[in-house]
Amino acid sequence: MINDNFFLKNAGYSNYEDTTSLPRHRWYYYKEGYSPNFVEKAIEYAGISKNDLIIDPFNGSGTTTLTSSMLGYKSIGIEVNPFTSFLSDAKVKNVEVSQLDRIEDKLLKAVNTGSNSPLLKFSTFSKKENLDKWLFNDEVLKSFEGGWQFSNSISGYNLRKIIRLALISTTMQNGNAKRDGKCLRYRNNWDRNGFNKDTFIESLLLNISNIKDDLQIAPISVKSKILRGDSRNILKSTNEINDFKLCITSPPYLNTFDYTDIYRPELFLGKFIRGSQKLYDLRLETIRSHIQAKWQLPTHNDFGLLFQQTMKHINENRDNLMHKNIPLMIQAYFEDMLNILKLLKTKASKNAQVWFVVSNSAYAGLEVPVDLIIGDIATKAGWYLKEIGVLRYVKKRKTKYSPEVKELRESVIILSNSKF
Ligand SMILES: C[S@@+](CC[C@H](N)C(=O)[O-])C[C@H]1O[C@@H](n2cnc3c(N)ncnc32)[C@H](O)[C@@H]1O
Repeated sequence: MINDNFFLKNAGYSNYEDTTSLPRHRWYYYKEGYSPNFVEKAIEYAGISKNDLIIDPFNGSGTTTLTSSMLGYKSIGIEVNPFTSFLSDAKVKNVEVSQLDRIEDKLLKAVNTGSNSPLLKFSTFSKKENLDKWLFNDEVLKSFEGGWQFSNSISGYNLRKIIRLALISTTMQNGNAKRDGKCLRYRNNWDRNGFNKDTFIESLLLNISNIKDDLQIAPISVKSKILRGDSRNILKSTNEINDFKLCITSPPYLNTFDYTDIYRPELFLGKFIRGSQKLYDLRLETIRSHIQAKWQLPTHNDFGLLFQQTMKHINENRDNLMHKNIPLMIQAYFEDMLNILKLLKTKASKNAQVWFVVSNSAYAGLEVPVDLIIGDIATKAGWYLKEIGVLRYVKKRKTKYSPEVKELRESVIILSNSKF
C-alpha cells in the first residue's frame, strides 16, 4: 500500500517554504503548513467540479481553504486554535486598497505614539527583574498595543481583521525568539538585535505594502468559511459540511507538539486568550497528540495488528521513553483519528476522497508507522484505502531518545468513499 514512487514525492509539497513569497499566504509566516501546490495537485487529481465542497478539519493557517478560494472552489475549514482560525479567515478577506490607504497614516501615528500593553511585565513577554530572557522589547509591545487600540476604531470588519493580522505578524517579526520545531528559540544575539519602534514601523510598512499588492493581484472570488472549534465536536453538530467532495487535511502529528503552546505569544497578543486557565481549557479541545493536558483517557485499542505490535514494543521498552504517558498518548491519538475518520464518513458525498497528510514518529527506538496504522483505522471507519503516497523522508533531529531512527516518513493517505 505504500507508494514510494508517489508522483508528489520530494517536490516540496509537504512543507511551507513557498508560502513565504506567495500572495496572501505570505501575510503570516506559519511553519507547520503544507504547500499550496499540494492542495492544487489534490484538487486536480481528485477531479472535482467547481460546485463541489472542499473541507479541512485541521485547517491550521488555512492553506487548504485559501488555495481553494483562490482557485474558485467552495471550502470550509475547522480549526480549534482561535489565533490560527483568525489567521486563515483574515487571509481570505477582500478590501479595497483605497480603504487601507485611508487609515494608514492614522495607524502609523498610533503605532508611533504607542500604548500601554497589558503584556508589559506579564510572564516572559517583556523585560522584568529576575528574567534573563524575554520575548519582546517594551517598545515593540507598546507599538503593537498602539496599533491594536487604533484597530478598535476601524469600522470595516474585513479591514480590521487584516490590520490586526499585520500587527501580530509585525510583532512576531520583531520578537526576540522565533519558532523552531516544538519551541520558540531565541535568535542569535537576540539581546543585541535592538528591535524597537523604528524596526516595528519598518516591518509594518513592508507588510502593509505586500497586503496591498496581494489584494490587487489575488482577489478572492469564492470565500471560504472558517469554523472555530474542536473538529471532533463540530463534525458531529454542523450541517454545513454535509456532502463534501474532497477533504485535504493534516492533523497534528504524533510528536508531542502542542500548538497552543507554540502559538502562545499570538494567542495573548491578539487577546484570544486572557489567562493560563483559558489556555489550558483550549488544550483540552485539541487532538491528543501531546502530553500537556490531563485529557480524557482512551478506551479503545482495536486499531489493527500494526498498532498492537507497536504498543507491545513500546510497553516493553518504557525505560526508553521521554515521558511515562507516551503509550497512553499514542493510544488516545489513534482513537481520535478513528473518531475523525468515522465522522468524516458521515459527511462525505458518494465519491468523496480524503487526502490525509501524516508523519511517522519515533518512540522507544521504534519508527511508529503512523501512516500504515491510520490506513488500517480508515478501513475500519468504512473508507477504501486507495494508496499511501510517500511525500518525503524527513531527517530526524538527533535526540537522546530513539537515536537509531534517522529519518521519518511523511506521507499522504488517500481514501475514497466508493470502491475504485
Ligand atoms: C498540521 S496543522 C495543519 C496545518 C495546515 N495543513 C496548514 O497548511 O496550515 C494541524 C492543526 O490542527 C489543529 N487542531 C488540533 N486539534 C484540533 C481539533 N480538535 N480540532 C480542530 N483543529 C485542531 C492545530 O491547532 C493545528 O493548527
